[in-house]
Amino acid sequence: MKIYITRRIPGPGIELLKNAGHELKINEEDRPLTDEELNSELSAGKYDGVLSLLTDNINAKVLDSAPSVKIYSNYAVGFNNINIEEAKKRNIVVSNTPGTSTNAVAEFTIALAMNIAKRVDEGDQFIRDGKYKGWNPNLLIGEEILNKTWGLVGAGRIGGRVAEILYKGFGMKIVYHDIKRNEELEKSYGAEFKENIEDLIKESDIISLHVLLDESTKHLMNKERIAMMKKTAVLINTSRGSVIDEPAIVSALENKMIRGFATDVYEFEPSLAEGLKELPNVVLTPHIASATEEARNAMSVQAAENLINYFAGKEVKYRV
Ligand code: DGY
Repeated sequence: MKIYITRRIPGPGIELLKNAGHELKINEEDRPLTDEELNSELSAGKYDGVLSLLTDNINAKVLDSAPSVKIYSNYAVGFNNINIEEAKKRNIVVSNTPGTSTNAVAEFTIALAMNIAKRVDEGDQFIRDGKYKGWNPNLLIGEEILNKTWGLVGAGRIGGRVAEILYKGFGMKIVYHDIKRNEELEKSYGAEFKENIEDLIKESDIISLHVLLDESTKHLMNKERIAMMKKTAVLINTSRGSVIDEPAIVSALENKMIRGFATDVYEFEPSLAEGLKELPNVVLTPHIASATEEARNAMSVQAAENLINYFAGKEVKYRV
């Protein structure tokens, strides 16, 4: 089959596709294609399948411009870059790569929280700015997370792994909110279910977001909910930027309504909300939570296997 890969990805999946006898064309430019470029490539190429990235906007226009494409295998857990309803209407299969980056993203989430609690980046900047003049009992006082409460918004794979690490390693109290209860999380890690997200927000010292982006989670952390956070609390986002109302979080930080914010994702990536990078109490990273060799190779394999299975007439396990 003829498969288009919208940007070079780690090798193992590409090898698998080649070994399965598929004909590949890869966008060799090391940048995402514009909507126009994607459209014209797909309409001209007569591809059977596409291995897409979260930076590709697969909308109705793209779907219509490439009627030969039967499957979009997204190289990501998230699939908010693809119009699923429109794909379904056209009988086009969409798949993703769940499970591949669970541990990477969970570890990264905790790294961001620890960075804020221990003021790691602030200390680094302090030294680089030439301000360090010797040990000072009052310098950059942080906090310990032992016995604090961590609120997980979303208790799926990644939220679950964060809970496991926190419970086994950090002795934290865990509360969680999800659309459905996760009894395993309660039994194994003593996590307490909060039916109302507001109860979790009011109680937590650290809140981390682990939800997929759709209409129900867009701006889930809005101005009103951010205002409910403790003044000493920290918000961590490794899901999608649009889960937070960005101007509202900037304003809360500017007004010291919360202690800090760390995010790996942005509503209009790569653009940042106005004022965000000027704030001292934030840690900003460039959407790299899953960027470990282990996770990115696993994502490559799973995205390839989704295509291989589909074209072999087998079940596509990770069909969205
Ligand atoms: C995903 O998988 O959805 C991440 O955002 C990128 O790895």
